[in-house]
Amino acid sequence: MVRAAGDVGNCLSNGLYLMKNQKVNSEPSELARPGSLEEELLHQLDLGRLPSHIAIIMDGNGRWARKRRLPRVAGHRAGIKSVRETVEVCARLGLQALTLYAFSQENWKRPRAEVDTLMGLLKEYIQKELDTLMRNNIRFKVIGRIGDLAGSVRSELTRAEEATAANTGLLFNIALSYGGRAEIVDACRSLLRSGQDPDDLTEELFGKRLYTAGCPDPDLMVRTSGEIRVSNFLLWQIAYAEIHVTETLWPDFRRRHIFEALLDFQNRERRYGGLAPDEDAVEPPAAIRG
Ligand code: FPP
Repeated sequence: MVRAAGDVGNCLSNGLYLMKNQKVNSEPSELARPGSLEEELLHQLDLGRLPSHIAIIMDGNGRWARKRRLPRVAGHRAGIKSVRETVEVCARLGLQALTLYAFSQENWKRPRAEVDTLMGLLKEYIQKELDTLMRNNIRFKVIGRIGDLAGSVRSELTRAEEATAANTGLLFNIALSYGGRAEIVDACRSLLRSGQDPDDLTEELFGKRLYTAGCPDPDLMVRTSGEIRVSNFLLWQIAYAEIHVTETLWPDFRRRHIFEALLDFQNRERRYGGLAPDEDAVEPPAAIRG
């Protein structure tokens, strides 16, 4: 259900305030069990200042499995539960977009059996989740060099994209055979083919050639499992994103971790190279001005 705030903010049943025009597609009790740690975190969040777009590098599946003496693919399978919960929470929070990094171009170097399992999980995910995506008004989109994927995987992905194309809620991008540099090269190829005049090219026009055209840039990028790297993910789009790294391994990632990432995001001061609004634009002393 979509709830919109009134003119001066709207106090929900458990005391959460929505800012003017903020829409949350859920009752807070659907986002967190009353009395839970999750509810406590949710209370601290300003629901009027959520990011529009969260991008996530899902990492640590192998380590999760190794800790349990299980094969690596068991970690990928367990990671599906985290995917489901993350999509659900982002949709309920009313975010505009979520992008998950599911398979990079570099991941083709993994053993054949692991690649096949990942592709199988992807097909299984769509077969099981398409109804839920539809019920929740979620639009599903694949970004990456889709042509690299096997025909049977491509046709499942296309089926999900077509079925959800008219949905107007959360845009759920899944990055497959994706590389940030490859995306930039693909955008350049597309511009060159169209005969773009170099002198007329702007950042805005360039953005329209990226796989994410029409989608706001991520305001928040999350990486699980403690690695502090960007790993060729959305290189153009994360120019001003806040980065949140959690030690939690992807298969253990739950709504609590999303709320923690959002709180971290809300505690950052976003200046885009400018000054904070309360900072006086003090003239430097003459000696420094020269
Ligand atoms: C990184 O962990 C994770 C991946 C390469 C794949 C992520 C895929 C899924 C969670 C399942 C498929 C997704 C969907 C949306 C159905 P890693 O194997 O690099 O872990 P490690 O660094 O601990 O070895």
